Amino acid sequence: MPAIEIRPDIHWIGVNDRTTDLFEGLWPITQAGVSYNSYLVNDERKAIIDLAKGFKADEFLDQIAQVMDLATLDYVVVNHVEPDHTGILRTLRRIAPQATILCSEKARAMLEGFYQIAENVRTVADGETLSLGQHTLQFLSTPFLHWPETMMTYETTQQVLFSCDAFGGYGALQGAIFDDECLAPDFYAREALRYYVNIVAVFSRPVLKAIDQLKDVPVQVIAPSHGLIWRQNPGRIVELYRQWASYATTPPPVGVALIYGSMYGNSEEMMNAVAQGVSGAGVPVEIFDVARTHSSYILPALWVNRGVIVGAPTYEGGLFPAMVHALDMAERKHIRNRKTAYFGSYGWGGGGRKEFERLAESLKWEVLDTFEFRGGPTEEDLEKAQEFGAQFAQAIRG
Ligand SMILES: Cc1cc2nc3c(=O)[nH]c(=O)nc-3n(C[C@H](O)[C@H](O)[C@H](O)COP(=O)(O)O)c2cc1C
Ligand SMILES: [Fe+2]
Ligand SMILES: [Fe+2]
Repeated sequence: MPAIEIRPDIHWIGVNDRTTDLFEGLWPITQAGVSYNSYLVNDERKAIIDLAKGFKADEFLDQIAQVMDLATLDYVVVNHVEPDHTGILRTLRRIAPQATILCSEKARAMLEGFYQIAENVRTVADGETLSLGQHTLQFLSTPFLHWPETMMTYETTQQVLFSCDAFGGYGALQGAIFDDECLAPDFYAREALRYYVNIVAVFSRPVLKAIDQLKDVPVQVIAPSHGLIWRQNPGRIVELYRQWASYATTPPPVGVALIYGSMYGNSEEMMNAVAQGVSGAGVPVEIFDVARTHSSYILPALWVNRGVIVGAPTYEGGLFPAMVHALDMAERKHIRNRKTAYFGSYGWGGGGRKEFERLAESLKWEVLDTFEFRGGPTEEDLEKAQEFGAQFAQAIRG
């Protein structure tokens, strides 16, 4: 895509990534893609704010060349050292060695560690300003969004906040780069939530702290490093992030994530009866087969629903491994304080329930009910399962 002016002399020079299958080597983005948004302030002194992954170097450099000559670049602001924003830094260094890198103290050590770059690096303090001529940059320290060195850069005259990973989301840009031109708002909201839970959720406390820090900063445009640029309604993405961050400590809305696994269909049959019970009680339910669905998609449902029903059989004296993995990912992402219940089939001695209870305890999830049955469910089991679902739904509503 060509460079796009987002405010006078402030340009988007981002790159769309539609060929990486796994973001951070882990999270599927084959379908959604992702953008690495980079920005260029073309003033008397010239600055690029955040870069891109080390690919499509020609396209990236061409975009810059549309606006300015790289030989005249004065600054590269590194808000965050993660290679999705710095992969191209060494290449840029070779072409424009005169440009001073501006970053936080912690980022300076990381740049040396990741890229052996130490020359011509200047650290900036929280609140420090830098005049580029008509434009002024201010650096805001926002540690742990989502690495310890992260900061945001604020352009004070046009009131543009370059927030880096914060307020970002998966989803390559589909022609439109601005919220007001976007014809797929639901896609970006969904992908921003998935990104939030996959990447940022563990750092929900720093998110709330940063939002609080920003409350007196007038912002016209939120320009994150991934996803849409918010110029019509910058408050929208901040509000979404605030809401999602709150689910780390306060119960999310009434709803059930029903996650299940099944080898021969016994637990699955039960799952359908449980879902009928939940849904019949008027509580929305999202259903995932844990063996077939990447945790990237399951975790958001666990994050935004108050209740989690777990259905999985016994496997070699313990819980079905794909379920153990899903619950382990929930633990790693600090998804705490949910209400939960378990059902599952076993063949002889059981053991699935026991392992579930151990995992639920370490997750600090409150177990409201459990229901183990042998082999294939009977008519009576299925009736009980429906009631089990209905009662769980009532309990999380109350
Ligand atoms: C690989 C494998 C390991 C199993 N290990 C146990 C076990 O240790 N204890 C037990 O009670 N049942 C065990 N079972 C039996 C299953 O729990 C039982 O077949 C159950 O009905 C499967 O439910 P599903 O149809 O929902 O997969 C095992 C089954 C398989 C295929
Ligand atoms: Fe990052
Ligand atoms: Fe990033």
